[in-house]
Amino acid sequence: MNVTVSRELTLSAIDHLYVLVTEEMNLDLPARLRTRIERAIGDSAFEGRSDESITMLAGAPRKITLVGLGKAEALSHRGLRAAIYAVGKTARRQRDKKIGVALCASFPNASLEASTRLAADLVAHSDYKYASYITSAEMKKRGEIACTLVAPASLDRRAVARVAAQSSVLTGAVRTVKDLGNGPGNLVTPTQLAKRAQEVAREAGLKCTVFDKKQIQKLKMGGLLAVNRGSAQEPRFIVMEYVPTGRRPKKTVCLVGKGITFDSGGISLKPGERMEEMKFDMCGAAAVMGTMQAVAKMKLPHRVVGIIPSTENLPSGTAYKPGDIVTTMSGKTIEVVNTDAEGRVILADALTYSTRFKPDHLIDYATLTGACVIALGGAATGLFSTDDELASRLTAAGEEVGERLWRMPVWDDYKDYIKSEWADMKNSGGRAGGAISAAMFLREFVDCPSWAHLDIAGTAWADNETAREAKGATGVGVRATVRFLEELA
Ligand code: BES
Ligand code: MN
Ligand code: ZN
Repeated sequence: MNVTVSRELTLSAIDHLYVLVTEEMNLDLPARLRTRIERAIGDSAFEGRSDESITMLAGAPRKITLVGLGKAEALSHRGLRAAIYAVGKTARRQRDKKIGVALCASFPNASLEASTRLAADLVAHSDYKYASYITSAEMKKRGEIACTLVAPASLDRRAVARVAAQSSVLTGAVRTVKDLGNGPGNLVTPTQLAKRAQEVAREAGLKCTVFDKKQIQKLKMGGLLAVNRGSAQEPRFIVMEYVPTGRRPKKTVCLVGKGITFDSGGISLKPGERMEEMKFDMCGAAAVMGTMQAVAKMKLPHRVVGIIPSTENLPSGTAYKPGDIVTTMSGKTIEVVNTDAEGRVILADALTYSTRFKPDHLIDYATLTGACVIALGGAATGLFSTDDELASRLTAAGEEVGERLWRMPVWDDYKDYIKSEWADMKNSGGRAGGAISAAMFLREFVDCPSWAHLDIAGTAWADNETAREAKGATGVGVRATVRFLEELA
């Protein structure tokens, strides 16, 4: 959906107006629109209760739908996201072409401006579908819906202009992540991922360097090369760098993302059931790429570096094997006990590489462990950090945008889990505490006092459509990270 954020709405120019309102009926809208909505509410028995919705046939526009949000104090991200997602679904079903949305409520934990920005972005994604390879006639004639989101009347002109510009940047960035995550492994290969990074860089105005296999060998990235040995596709190591122009950057932040374009498990092969979903195993990389896109377009005052190691993880006669010992770029050695614990092996080299930027903060994003899915399900990203302040800033940023982060321990108590008889460490600590031992492993390669690891294995992918979002890649990571970077002094 194409969303325009505007201070006014011409009712005759749309065919369906959606009004999302709480029981308090606080209509913070331009006067004429407000009067029209008050009349619609008066004509119906609408009370604004949650799950209450009424569609009325009107003159101009033809239809007005009133959607209840319940009591303002009880509003949640879940509830608002569901209401917004329902708008997209309804508009599609009813074949609306031009719609207006008046959201008369604010997301909890967010300022009115931040809330409006998020709403515009979520409306734009409310009818998202990865349809590049659906060739049916019906899909071909599925045009784009044009939406005008009416800004709250109490937001001033400049705030509305910011919301309009930034929400479309964020929407584009989240779309980048979803398209890559939903894209099939035969098309989203490491080479293609790198090409996409270069496209994003060109379009957003940032620097992008792509290292091929030879250069990766030169850098002695033994972890990335080991995982790549089973694949016919060359690995890539992608570095995207944004430096603000005309000012000294406030902070340097490195973002590292796991870019496994397909994870079969390798020689330690995964069971076949739902293996196809492992095309999503580059969602950490995609989140980094999307965030870089947004950061550059929003011209944030920090130097931000995106670092992506990318390969497939497949079995073959040349694949790395359980028992192999791998020497990483850092010089540290890894005993491979399970080739399916490949994410940490490639991230090891990327974390080492990040030290050359001397970052103030180092954040990695990875669909790292099934154990994290078992622990937190799809509701929260696992957050592991050596810096309490960074952890709480990331958590707060997430709460503003409805991306939950839940802190998990990185205590030395878990260090024994990855102790190896034959090398500096082994790449799996077994099933118990699996998300934590994975984080402990990564920590061995971190040389930055302010580090956070986000295990997005449960949050990057929706197994099924819910009331709030479509099936598939969710785009998690971008909105929270951008918010974090905006608030970072
Ligand atoms: N990409 C997977 C993690 C994953 C598994 C995400 C299931 C979503 C759903 C990762 O590479 C992996 O396979 N991890 C193993 C580690 C184990 C072998 C120590 C896992 O979690 O089973
Ligand atoms: Mn794996
Ligand atoms: Zn994986």
